[in-house]
Amino acid sequence: MHPRNAAARLRAGLVPCLCLLVLAIAGCSPDGYPQTALRPLSDFARIGDHVQDQTLYWALGTFVLVEGALLYAIFRFRGKPGDPEPRQVHGNTAIEIVWTVIPALILAAIAVPTLKGIFLVNGKPQGQLLEVEVVGHQWWWEFRYPEYGIVTANELVIPAGRTVHFTEHSVDVVHSWWPPRFAGKRDVFPGRETRIWFKADSTGLYPGQCAEFCGIQHARMAFHIRSETPEAFDAWIAHMQTLGPPKAASAPAPAAADSLRTASAGASVQQEAQGDPLAAQGETLFRNKGCIGCHSLQAKGAPTALIGPNLANVGSRAYIAAGWLKNTDENLEAWIQDPQALKKGVLMPNLGVKPDEAKALRAYLRAHK
Ligand code: CUA
Repeated sequence: MHPRNAAARLRAGLVPCLCLLVLAIAGCSPDGYPQTALRPLSDFARIGDHVQDQTLYWALGTFVLVEGALLYAIFRFRGKPGDPEPRQVHGNTAIEIVWTVIPALILAAIAVPTLKGIFLVNGKPQGQLLEVEVVGHQWWWEFRYPEYGIVTANELVIPAGRTVHFTEHSVDVVHSWWPPRFAGKRDVFPGRETRIWFKADSTGLYPGQCAEFCGIQHARMAFHIRSETPEAFDAWIAHMQTLGPPKAASAPAPAAADSLRTASAGASVQQEAQGDPLAAQGETLFRNKGCIGCHSLQAKGAPTALIGPNLANVGSRAYIAAGWLKNTDENLEAWIQDPQALKKGVLMPNLGVKPDEAKALRAYLRAHK
């Protein structure tokens, strides 16, 4: 075959390949993937994103230069039939020095922002910090706000524009807390504290995920971060602080109200349940089916060391089952009836709840907002 024909065919083959490459790269757009680290929404996430961008630009430049030189050499110096033997060379000190020094300089240029970033993200941030404790459980996340004395689970609420400092540990195995839009991964260990921080610069609801294999439901150990304006955050805190223990001891309660009391139901919820017979039935079931042994319905002064997630404001959360199932009435009832079918191996047992009982329990939980 004539060499010119071969080159033309190679060039003709390159066009569809390049088109496919462009399509593939377009398919990598983060739009359809909310759990992406490529669209940072905090100071912390931007540090990592900056290092990644720098590395990518250097790698891209190197790739284009090296592959360009290679392609040029292939076509420019292609052997033809009858060519004489090329001149044989052995070693070239100047070239060897150049191709050692240039990569060393590139690595140094990448190392500077990398090391700076490592020191920055591992340092303790300054300013008016909001302290939050993150506790990993098989397979859900607990969030404690020691400053306000409240606890919640699986949906972390934070104020945008204020640095949040997280102190993390686990009560069972090793997990890894990862809010991709806001920060990197941080392993959480039993008996040891790790720390992370970030200042969110946007409001909205964003997903997070456990990033360390921790058992059968590791993949569904998710959570969400609800970033709010400072005013909405303060209002949320003030509301959560009302979800305390019932004021049972103060005065003898009327018989009707008595039936709505549990060890952990909040006072505001009792009133809501009183107006709704279905919710009142759910309250009795919550106690009699044993739900109360694993879940607290108090945000303030909640008992610690319970196996199940805190449910004080479960009625208003966007998701149930650790950030995995949309919090619709249908899903909530299905979950109460048969958690093992939805999340096999989850520590919540099937309690033999019938469909009408699930409706009542759903109504009761929905009232906890
Ligand atoms: Cu917890 Cu994986």
